[in-house]
This record gives sequence, C-alpha cells and structure tokens, in this order.
Amino acid sequence: MKILMVASEAVPFAKTGGLADVAGVLPKFLKQLGHDVRVVMPLYGSIDQWKYRMEALPGAMGVWMGMIGELWCEVRQCMLPGSDVPIYFIVFDQYYARKGLYNEPNGAGFLDNDNRFVFLSRAALVLCKKIGFSPDVIHCNDWHTAAVPVFLNTVYAQDETLGQAASLLTIHNMEYQGRYYAGLMNVLDIGWEHFNHLELEWQNQCNLLKGGLYHATLFNAVSHGYAAEIQTPQFGHGLEGVVRDRRDALRGVLNGIDYEEWNPAHDKHITAPYDIDDMYGKSVCKHALQEELGLEPRSDVPLFGLVARLVDQKGIRLLAQIFEALMRLDIQIALLGSGEAWAEDFFRLMSYRYPEKFGCHIGYSNPLAHRIEAGSDFFLMPSVFEPCGLNQLYSLRYGTIPIVHAVGGLNDTIYNYDGYFHSGTGFKYYDQTPEALYNTIAWALELWTHQPSEIEGLRRRAMEQRFSWQGSAEQYVEIYKEAIFRKTGRSVID
Ligand code: ADP
Ligand code: GLC
Repeated sequence: MKILMVASEAVPFAKTGGLADVAGVLPKFLKQLGHDVRVVMPLYGSIDQWKYRMEALPGAMGVWMGMIGELWCEVRQCMLPGSDVPIYFIVFDQYYARKGLYNEPNGAGFLDNDNRFVFLSRAALVLCKKIGFSPDVIHCNDWHTAAVPVFLNTVYAQDETLGQAASLLTIHNMEYQGRYYAGLMNVLDIGWEHFNHLELEWQNQCNLLKGGLYHATLFNAVSHGYAAEIQTPQFGHGLEGVVRDRRDALRGVLNGIDYEEWNPAHDKHITAPYDIDDMYGKSVCKHALQEELGLEPRSDVPLFGLVARLVDQKGIRLLAQIFEALMRLDIQIALLGSGEAWAEDFFRLMSYRYPEKFGCHIGYSNPLAHRIEAGSDFFLMPSVFEPCGLNQLYSLRYGTIPIVHAVGGLNDTIYNYDGYFHSGTGFKYYDQTPEALYNTIAWALELWTHQPSEIEGLRRRAMEQRFSWQGSAEQYVEIYKEAIFRKTGRSVID
C-alpha cells in the first residue's frame, strides 16, 4: 500500500506530546511491514535542517488558500532517522519559522493557527501531485490535519492523483478541535454548502475536527476505552453526537512505544542500566535522581515521579489540591513539566517550601524524563481524560509502578493491584476526586512500607508487559485496507 502520514509534529524533529511519538515511529513499522509510507510535516524554526541533511525538492509549490490567494512554498526532504522512510517538510517561513509549534512563548496560541494548518493540510495534497505519489490511504492526525479528508471529498474528489485516496483520521485528543470564525470557509474555499450542522458548522463557527470526522473514510481513537468515551458528553467535548452518528466508522488502536528509546537496559540517559533480573541499577538511578533534584538521598522513602504537560487534562489541579497533605506523608515527589502559568508557579513554590521532599523542574527535557522514569518507584497519572498515554507504558517498562485514574488508555493498559490474587501492574482509582487520589497514593505507600514483596511482584509483572508498535502497526494496516475497500470497493491482497 502507498500510505501518506500527515501530522503537525513528529519525533525527532518537533514534539510537544505523544502525537509526535506516533507520527515519527509508526511509519517505520509500516515500512517494515512492506508498505510505501511517507510523512509530511511543517519545517518549524526549531528544526535544524543541516543536522538532518535535508535536500530541497526542485521548484516551488503553489497552494490555494481561497481568499488569501495562492501561497508559494518549498519542500525539503530527508529520511526519518534510522529508516528509509521519506519525510517531506513544508517550508513556508511566514507560517512556520517560529520557535514554538502552536504557541507564543507566553503560552498564547498563534493567531493564525487556522491558516497555518489548513495550509499544511492542503500542501500535503499538492505535494502528492508534485511528486506523482498517488496514496491509497492518507493518515491524518488531530484537528491540525483534519481538513485533509474534507479536501479529498470536495475539491480533489475527481482528481487523477488523489480521487481514489481513502482517509483515516486518528483522534489523539478530542479537546483540541480547531474551532475558528465561520469565515475560515473562505480560506478552505470548498463552498459554503459544506457549512452545515453535519459537516463543518459548530455553533456558528467553523470546526475543522468536526469536518474531518464527517469526511474521513474511517477514524480511530488511540485506545478502545477512549473510542467508547468520546461518544459521551463527558469526553466528547461537544462532538459526541458527531462521533455517535459515525460510530460504524470508528475504531480503537492503542499506541505502541519505542522500546529502543525506552529500555532501562540500554538507556543512554540514565545513570546505571538495569533490567528485570538485575535491579541494582534502579537503586543507583534513584539515588542519582534524588541528588540531581536536591532531595534527601534515602532509599527507604518511596519516590513518585510525574512527567507531563502541565494542563488541566493531566489532573494537576487534583494533585495541587492534595499537595500539602501529601507532603505530610513520608514520600518524595519528582515532577517535570511545563504548561499553564498557575501550575508552573504553584509547583515552583512547593519546591521552595519542601525542598527535601519535592523536586521539580519546570521545562522540557527528554533526558530528565528518562531519569525520572528510571529513578522513581511509582509514577503518577491522575489525568482527567487520557486518550492513550505513553508515560504509563514507559513506566511499566522501567518497573516504576503507575498510579492512574481509570480512564481511556490508562484504564486499558494498567491492571489494578489485587493483594488476594497477587496480580496487577499498578494502582487505579475510579473517581476523579482529591480523596480518591490521596487514598490511592496512601495505599501504595502502605504496601511499600509493610509488604515490600508485593511491590517486587508488581514491579516484575509491570516489566513483563509489552506494548510494541509492531502489533499496533498491524492493526493500522487492517484499518487502511478496510478504508480502501470502503472508498474504492477494491480489496488489498497481501
Ligand atoms: P500527551 O501527548 O497528552 O502530552 P502522552 O503521555 O501521550 O501525553 O505523551 C507525552 C509525551 O511527552 C511523553 O513522551 C512524555 O515523556 C513527553 N513529555 C511531556 N512533557 C515533557 C517534559 N516536560 N519534558 C520531557 N518530556 C515530556
Ligand atoms: C494525545 C493524548 C495522549 C496520547 C497521545 C498520542 O496527546 O493526550 O493520551 O497518548 O496523544 O496518541
């Protein structure tokens, strides 16, 4: 199959969250399964094109932006590192040559994000024509590239190169929808007849994700749990009705993780390697992490790690509510994250108040994320909602027992501890209340203090879990085949 992956971020080039892990890693596995897969993303100002030896494609490319007119961009190309998957970068400095991907340094979203990502969506299609690549399926991700299926079904429906292309839209996060003024229809320029309650109109605004959900041949959420949840008002963020209307086209595929990058036996970022049969290195990592964050270097106190974007989704309000109570327990917490100003200020303040018990680093650091996974005993994920979640999967591999709110991908991937059967891979709580979170942490502490052999068992079972990309890639291949069949009536035979 010929597959085009379109995304707003991909590792190792640009990343704000798990979407980048998916867009940068899944294509490599699809390639290994024998498919012709290519990736398209913007060339942001933060990407070092010399380091990746990018080459320019000859000639400029004109992309129609309706009332804005035709915008001319360039395309550069290299391979996804460690693979022979071509990745194309849309070069349009006026939109992309900025440090941030989506936001100003102060956190405010760029005012032209609507145009930036409508442009990306359309440029990806023009690129196919330019290089003569006729994809069987185009895999788009989140609202940023949700306009792709809309264009495919409208302005490109009869196109020679693109008319037969099926589309799959993956929902990594339903909260972000790309909702803009109705006039964005004039930039899309597909005709105002598509501004209706089924397609792009949402409360008199133009909603790109909604348009994508309507037009994609198939769509999927990044876990089965989340696929069910987004059909409800609590998790659908207003689009639950749209999702329910098309639930016959909805699938769930859990993300995998990259076990080359996240493996405590060969992790170049951590102080000492370790694995399931030799855990000594983990205690070295814990000691080093305590020193790095200025915590009291004690091996007998449990260390709870947390690495996340500091936004409401991640449940940090709940954590903030019980924080001082937690600090009265004999535990330590290590936190890495950046995001909303109130949260950054709050956690900074707490680290001044409890320097020996709470270490925090406000910012973004992949190496420190690895060291927190390796050095912690438990990992906190009190997310309000979590479409898949990657950190609990890293934690399992690192023998860092996850404590999670039982939602979405967290609920699908973590088995609750059961002391009677000596089973489970982590601790779950079901009500998103401060008491439930506090009591679950206290439960973990209790076990740590009085039943260390149970902690050993949990750790071992956690480390034996595998969530590989191989399996997820195979599921995506089946979904692509189904999408191609729906779109063209053609069966893909292996
Ligand atoms: P989301 O995509 O909603 O942010 P995920 O759990 O899917 O949540 O993925 C988050 C990814 O981003 C993980 O790989 C995590 O390690 C990484 N990450 C988040 N915040 C930071 C940070 N401040 N520093 C380093 N890595 C981070
Ligand atoms: C989103 C979700 C996260 C998921 C990631 C990758 O950012 O918040 O749960 O793991 O996308 O699919």
